[in-house]
Amino acid sequence: MSKKFFQISPSILSSDFANLQKEVEAVELAGADYLHVDVMDGHFVPNLTIGAPVVEALKRVSKIPLDCHLMIESPEKYIADFAKAGAKIITVHFEASSALEKLAMQIKANSCLAGISIKPQTQASEIFSLLKFFDLILVMSVEPGFSGQKFMPECALKLAELRREIEKQNLKCLLEIDGGVNLETALQCREADILVAGHAVFRAPSYQKAIQALKESR
Ligand code: DX5
Ligand code: ZN
Repeated sequence: MSKKFFQISPSILSSDFANLQKEVEAVELAGADYLHVDVMDGHFVPNLTIGAPVVEALKRVSKIPLDCHLMIESPEKYIADFAKAGAKIITVHFEASSALEKLAMQIKANSCLAGISIKPQTQASEIFSLLKFFDLILVMSVEPGFSGQKFMPECALKLAELRREIEKQNLKCLLEIDGGVNLETALQCREADILVAGHAVFRAPSYQKAIQALKESR
């Protein structure tokens, strides 16, 4: 039986913003499967990053799908903008809305895949009833807001719980984990399909080696 590799979504938050096009091309060449784009609004999380115009620029220079992680309040106001800019996956936070089913419908109506993310304090069981509306589940393994933080092992335990529930409900959602993922912590993420990696890729001497090693660490 062939071994199943992780898919890798490098987070551009750890890249060199002065050379974004080069960074994107380098991780593509190195085998990245997606490009993870962290959108922060200074309200939902205590940091400000980038918005739809940057996604639009990334779309022009990237061949791989843009995996947009919205850490923002009132995500419903911006979904159309991110979809139009070229996002393939739009992930919203469970904690940012009380109308998640509607948000999933809105994302899909804009021809994107719909993702839902949970912060470290949110239990996996809190989203069991919502899984059927989403294509992707993103488990945060750090408090969202910054790259380069330490992996929280207790968050990775949610992956197995979610995997069981996805199978029980006979769904096809992808499982993604984000925050402090590196070669060592990836060992605790075997139930995930996609690893997000910021520092572990963009601060590595060789993107190629970093991405390939992460892929094979499953
Ligand atoms: C944190 C972001 C992450 C982060 C990952 O709020 O959602 O995507 O940039 O960076 P590392 O892998 O360095 O923790
Ligand atoms: Zn992220």
